[in-house]
Amino acid sequence: MRRMTTVTVIGCGYLGAVHAACMAALGHDVTGIDVDERKIAQLAAGQSPFFEPEFPELLQSSLASGRLRFSTDMAAAAGNRVHFLCVGTPQRKGEYAADMKFVDAAMQSLLPHLSDGDLVVGKSTVPVGTAARLADLVDEAGSGALLAWNPEFLREGFAVQDTLHPDRLVYGLPAGDAGKTAKDLLDEVYATPLSDGTPLVVADYATAELVKVAANSFLATKISFINAMAEVCEATGADVTLLADAIGHDTRIGRRFLNAGLGFGGGCLPKDIRAFMARAGELGADQALAFLREIDSINLRRRVRMVDLAREVCGGTIVGKRVAVLGAAFKPNSDDIRDSPALNVAAQMQLQGASVVVTDPEAVDNARRAWPDLAYADSMTEAVTGADLVLVLTEWQEYRDADPEAVGELVAARRMLDGRNALDPARWRAAGWTYRALGRP
Ligand code: UGA
Repeated sequence: MRRMTTVTVIGCGYLGAVHAACMAALGHDVTGIDVDERKIAQLAAGQSPFFEPEFPELLQSSLASGRLRFSTDMAAAAGNRVHFLCVGTPQRKGEYAADMKFVDAAMQSLLPHLSDGDLVVGKSTVPVGTAARLADLVDEAGSGALLAWNPEFLREGFAVQDTLHPDRLVYGLPAGDAGKTAKDLLDEVYATPLSDGTPLVVADYATAELVKVAANSFLATKISFINAMAEVCEATGADVTLLADAIGHDTRIGRRFLNAGLGFGGGCLPKDIRAFMARAGELGADQALAFLREIDSINLRRRVRMVDLAREVCGGTIVGKRVAVLGAAFKPNSDDIRDSPALNVAAQMQLQGASVVVTDPEAVDNARRAWPDLAYADSMTEAVTGADLVLVLTEWQEYRDADPEAVGELVAARRMLDGRNALDPARWRAAGWTYRALGRP
């Protein structure tokens, strides 16, 4: 019989809410805590504050099992054994560095509720050195609690599956007996994925913290690498999608994360590589990460190139043109619009005089709040009607599946810009569309 553990999850955003529901699904007794009363009320009522496939069902079944509850009061952590820190570390305004105020506030309010034998487990993405600093705080508070670092690798859109069946687990542990005690507790929490064969890497704090930012830096590098190749393809008439297929067949390279297009956005990759550069600078290792500045630049250049291409296909100007933007989320199967390349391009085109209408299957409400000056449509049909130009900027399945003939009936001019290399050029061209994409002839 597996042992059930009492678990606190502090911070019920994307990461925390999914983690809390998944921990309950694994059989633990879980309390989710957040300072945001509205979010807690929603979660307690079984409603997801964000769009994430599989999450609403899991939330509801975990609540129904009686193993999951939510609170705004940190005192609800008292008596639990394992306390996960899942609060956000956003980019600081006007700087590259991560803002640690939520981590620090969560830690300070947790400290008085810790007891001997408790384990605090950091999951947030943090500058290397944070775990050691927080471990000192736990020590100084004198409760006898321990701290471990256990970075999270879930992808939005696959958050539930990635949490229940992770590619790997990483534990950053203190040295000596304390490390052994912490490992035993984490093994208890993750008994199910471990017995399913999930690889485990046990390391020190700094290595565990670095694994997370190194992984995201590598993913960002892969995307910017293929987007740099797309720039060269554009200069030569070559096709970056074929190039990606061909190099991806080499298993040392692999095809995944080689989709050229508008580049990466979201709440993680862009801010993580910037925070990593900032931290490396503080550590005197900035030269080691100088390449990440280029990764960031290549990524941002794609957005400018997209607008240039729009101008090009519209005969030199987009002033007064009706432009339909399909997609607002930073990627499909998400309503997250943080640092969304699609919205950035939409806003640039509007600034340059186009009349832009944005639509998205899930992200319109979030987009409207963050970019109130853009115009929105509730459906693809409404967005494309009368358009002089259509852009696919987030590759939702419904845009991939769109019928060129049917869409063609609605638009004023059959011009399609595929910002994600998501459509079949031959199919659109056969229906009389001018089809252009990034990195493709
Ligand atoms: C990313 C990582 O993939 C997760 O492993 C990590 O846990 C997470 O950040 C995090 O740090 O929390 P996520 O931000 O959900 O996950 O999104 P990704 O699937 O990585 O996509 C990021 C961006 O890259 C999207 O804008 C996507 O459109 C773009 N992308 C991805 C490409 O442009 N090309 C590709 O080939 C792949």
